[in-house]
Amino acid sequence: MAEQVAIDPITRIEGHLRIELEVENKKITKAWSESTQYRGIEEIVLGRDPRDAWAFVQRICGVCTSVHAIASVTAVENAIGSNPPPQAKAIRDLVLTAQEVQDHVIHFYHLHALDWVDVVSALKADPAETLAFAQKIAKSAGVDSWKGNTVERFAEVQATVKAIVDSGQLSIFTGGYWGHPAYKLPPAANLMAVAHYLDALEFQRSMIRIVTVFGGKNPHPNFLVGGMACTIDRDKSESINQVQIDQIADWIAEAEEFVHKVYLPDALAIVGVYKEYFSIGASVPNYFAVGMSGATYAGDPRTASSTSPHSKVKPGVIFNNDFANVAEFDPAKITEWVSSAWYSYEGGDIGLPPAEGETKVNYTGPAVPYTWVADHDQYTWSKAPRYDGKVMQVGPVARVVLAYARGHERTKALVDLAVSKLGITLPQINSTAGRALSRCVEAVTSVESLSEIFKTFVAGVKGRDYDIFDSTKWEPSSWPAEATGYSFVEVARGNLSHWVGIKDGKISHYQAVVPTTWLAGGRDKEGNIGPYEYALSGNQQHPLAINDQPLEVLRTIHSFDPCMSCAVHLLDPEGKEVQVVVS
Ligand code: NI
Ligand code: MG
Repeated sequence: MAEQVAIDPITRIEGHLRIELEVENKKITKAWSESTQYRGIEEIVLGRDPRDAWAFVQRICGVCTSVHAIASVTAVENAIGSNPPPQAKAIRDLVLTAQEVQDHVIHFYHLHALDWVDVVSALKADPAETLAFAQKIAKSAGVDSWKGNTVERFAEVQATVKAIVDSGQLSIFTGGYWGHPAYKLPPAANLMAVAHYLDALEFQRSMIRIVTVFGGKNPHPNFLVGGMACTIDRDKSESINQVQIDQIADWIAEAEEFVHKVYLPDALAIVGVYKEYFSIGASVPNYFAVGMSGATYAGDPRTASSTSPHSKVKPGVIFNNDFANVAEFDPAKITEWVSSAWYSYEGGDIGLPPAEGETKVNYTGPAVPYTWVADHDQYTWSKAPRYDGKVMQVGPVARVVLAYARGHERTKALVDLAVSKLGITLPQINSTAGRALSRCVEAVTSVESLSEIFKTFVAGVKGRDYDIFDSTKWEPSSWPAEATGYSFVEVARGNLSHWVGIKDGKISHYQAVVPTTWLAGGRDKEGNIGPYEYALSGNQQHPLAINDQPLEVLRTIHSFDPCMSCAVHLLDPEGKEVQVVVS
């Protein structure tokens, strides 16, 4: 008899996600991914000036800041025919790339690491052995040990953890499943990881300053249709000047050091200890991306027009793990289904392309508080996007396999290193551990391209290229009476697209298809399960040892990085700690 398990909310993510499961003999047999939150921002922008849309849609998320704004301005530019100058595009690429590196570091250390690292076990470590461990894994990754790895630092962090544990109030570590048998790292690795958790908090704060210099603030920096909302002049105090350029150079150098010497060895070591997770959590073997992280793509795919000058990998689609055959990407093949979602389409249970998408709410679920939702045909606020009718993976794994298949050398070298060290096969990158690994591979290539993009930008500044705004299409009188546009951006969690229709100078249509919609969406009309659901129940072998401590489920769901923050414990809508086993 299957046991029913509901986990609500899944924490250490952004937003609200509930997972319902059926479990037999400690294996997951069925899964439902349930988004329990409705936003409706696509409706809010209707009738507004398309030049303002970015400011509204950027509020779709406070974590994936910047990315919705960039998707919006590039979609509007695509519609009205505006072409921002190269320096404006370089700044957007810098913002996207810096944000992505910061996001991946936060995900690994602050959202995902505690699924693998037992904080309390760090108390048993010897700081000298911890240093030896850190040096060993750095060597294994082919890098020097980071300057922050010292016996004194590890002893200091251990004393901090001890004081926290002795106080009886675990603070940021409250609610973890400490001591769970699925934790396997030795005490030295746990202490090192806790130290790096704290170091990464400092690092991410410094890293995001790059965005604040160009966008004025973070989260939700300032953007502009046709360019950027900042000015550049080496010699003017009110512009992006030499002082800031020097600062950014320092932050990028610091980011390169942290990603190469801390994140890369840590990720390789941790997934190496949990190697069985390369055989757990495989999701659908279909992938698409419009390039590497930070790539922005708009226009006619047949002419391969890309707004990003720095994307080295062309858009592509891979079906059924066939890495030798990359299909050309065609935006017209995207549809969104609402068969399992609380929306209704005028035309019934059909797939709508986002350019014709509808957002009409139709809640048919049970009254709250509920104990079980999955016995309803509709069980989520997330639509189910499909490409050519197929369930797809987007995100770091999709981008890394596309870059690998397209022969991107740096990606290939990093993946080959990991595959040979770990003794896994390339298709196993589609797994819970593979998603953590791919994100790290991508952080390395991203931080390196951040440095390259910055060099190009600085060379432009030195040549006094200060032009960052195309004014020719600013006035609505210069626009066609009716226009449509779209833009794809590769952001931390995967492929993001915005679709805009403009009529008489106002927004007549707006749809966003976000990475988490691709991944967290539920069943379609044919009953095909979504990517989260597939990762948990696709092969009926995903473990769940202890129903009320669903650590293995958290590992797999967190590996997709459903974005956001906070504690580890499970809460019901009244705030009580809960895990529901219905039968
Ligand atoms: Ni987000
Ligand atoms: Mg949408």
